[in-house]
Amino acid sequence: MQRTIDYKNGKVIVIDQTRIPHELVELEMPDYESVADAIKTMKVRGAPAIGVAGALGIVVAARHSSASDPKSLYEELEQAGDTLKKTRPTAVNLFWGIDRMLDAAHAALKAESNVDDMKHALESLGKLMLQEDEDICRRIGSHGASLLPQNGDVLTHCNAGALACVGYGTALGVIRAAVEAGKRIHVYADETRPRLQGMKLTCFELVRDNIPVTVISDNMAGSFMRKGKIDCVVVGADRIAANGDVANKIGTYSVAVLAHHHGIPFYVAAPTSTIDLSLANGDDTPIEERSHEEVTHIDGHRIAPMGVEVVNPSFDVTPAAYVNAIITEKGIVYPPYKKNLR
Ligand code: MRU
Repeated sequence: MQRTIDYKNGKVIVIDQTRIPHELVELEMPDYESVADAIKTMKVRGAPAIGVAGALGIVVAARHSSASDPKSLYEELEQAGDTLKKTRPTAVNLFWGIDRMLDAAHAALKAESNVDDMKHALESLGKLMLQEDEDICRRIGSHGASLLPQNGDVLTHCNAGALACVGYGTALGVIRAAVEAGKRIHVYADETRPRLQGMKLTCFELVRDNIPVTVISDNMAGSFMRKGKIDCVVVGADRIAANGDVANKIGTYSVAVLAHHHGIPFYVAAPTSTIDLSLANGDDTPIEERSHEEVTHIDGHRIAPMGVEVVNPSFDVTPAAYVNAIITEKGIVYPPYKKNLR
């Protein structure tokens, strides 16, 4: 599959994920405002993807700036960074990507680079981050593949696939790498209400790759575990606290508790850019509350009675005690996470 996100001819290119599985359409974004909008409206989504998108937002902000001196350019980039950071609060990768770009701009400023050199440095870093993300996912995949059974059924939640990254994926990267290594894996994909990333995106990717996949509604997972149909769970993450608590798509916590109850290993696959050592535990993770329409409507059609109260937290936190291992590009981290994540 082509990259989910790319940078070509001074524009950020993303696959519009709101149109999958019906059509595969690319959007071209010439300015940081449209990148910010694409992140907010989830045309680009998934923690690693929005990290790179945020960084590329700074690249296009620099490219199209008419600032005549490096200090003014840097100030404009800080403003662009503020706008981009306000799009989604939970995935720490977004802040990591933007800050990495702003740090590079600041280093260029300190080195007394001129405006053109500063723009060039940011563009080179953007291209490097695109390549790095793909390489990181492949490394996560090769580390994690060893944890999957030779022959078995893996449950995943939401979409932590190629579409959530520049390519290949984290949780789905582990599954892809296991399949490439000759393992016979069948995937159960939770549909992942309310936005259905599991059914729409994960199933789309796996069907295209000829990896056997069965979609189940979220409330089926427990029953399938009880019947012995699931050998392990692999999910992605939006933020991992210093003690190993994991913020991920709403519903991940329920899956983790169920897996724990049934003695099924629960693995989290994520790049180290998802680890936020500044958070002692997951309780302080900022959890995004999204539009109530995501719950009351499906594909634009209202399915809830008028007048009903609605809440829509987009993420939840799974305590580290339910996480058997965290698979990163640097290797597999086992408990105690407080010591080993560092
Ligand atoms: O709201 P989304 O679709 O951006 O949420 C995505 C997830 O929760 C993913 O599991 C997470 O970002 C990891 S992606 C490799």
